[in-house]
Amino acid sequence: MGKDVIIACDFDSAEKTFAFLDRFTGKKPFVKIGMELYYAEGPSIVREIKKRGHKIFLDLKLHDIPNTVKKAMAVLSRLDVDMTNLHAAGTKRMMEAAIEGLTRPDGTRPMLIAVTQLTSTDQESMENDLLIHEPIDKVVMHYAHNAKLAGLDGVVCSPLEAGKVHDVCGEGFVTVTPGVRFADGDIGDQKRVMTPAEAKKIGSDYIVVGRPITAAADPVAAYERCVAEFVD
Ligand code: C5P
Repeated sequence: MGKDVIIACDFDSAEKTFAFLDRFTGKKPFVKIGMELYYAEGPSIVREIKKRGHKIFLDLKLHDIPNTVKKAMAVLSRLDVDMTNLHAAGTKRMMEAAIEGLTRPDGTRPMLIAVTQLTSTDQESMENDLLIHEPIDKVVMHYAHNAKLAGLDGVVCSPLEAGKVHDVCGEGFVTVTPGVRFADGDIGDQKRVMTPAEAKKIGSDYIVVGRPITAAADPVAAYERCVAEFVD
């Protein structure tokens, strides 16, 4: 599995995104487009970033009835993204339908990754709001296992969960981990963080890094530091 650093392009316009990406004159980083940018600019932002030579993780977290997700995934597949995602809470049947929709006529498809429990959900809110009474780490591993059974490629998880996910679902099951900070950097609103080097040690396959790169005085240097710590 090729390890890589994915930059979270959490900008609200194409203009700001391109001003940021224009700085990268060498290697074109793998980028994550989330709801904010996608809803602001629509599918053209995906096509334009792709045309510039970047790999794209389209982070739209689909969750709907299986037939709707299947059809939406077919559209995303035609956008030629490299990775996309959905909520495992949508059930195995929804995840299987997603794989069907995502698979192109030639049999290829983007990687499909499941969100288990959002890291903003804690034990208390899971019990009170969702009426799920199992321990949260058991729920996360159960959802990861369901994703594996449905044929997905991996999960988004905290770097602290990556090792356990590999134990439960196998080394080949991909872990994509946000919550990454430099040892000497600001934590901001993230609670449980790891450095790129620690994420590498624990077995993350891809780290998703936003503000430590996008808000750095020198974003290219910050990106290269992530690559040096995590990939090289
Ligand atoms: O700026 P920062 O490095 O915190 O950005 C992390 C990115 O990963 C953001 O786009 C955020 O939405 C996303 N993310 C996260 N935690 C999750 C899932 C996604 O931080 N559990």
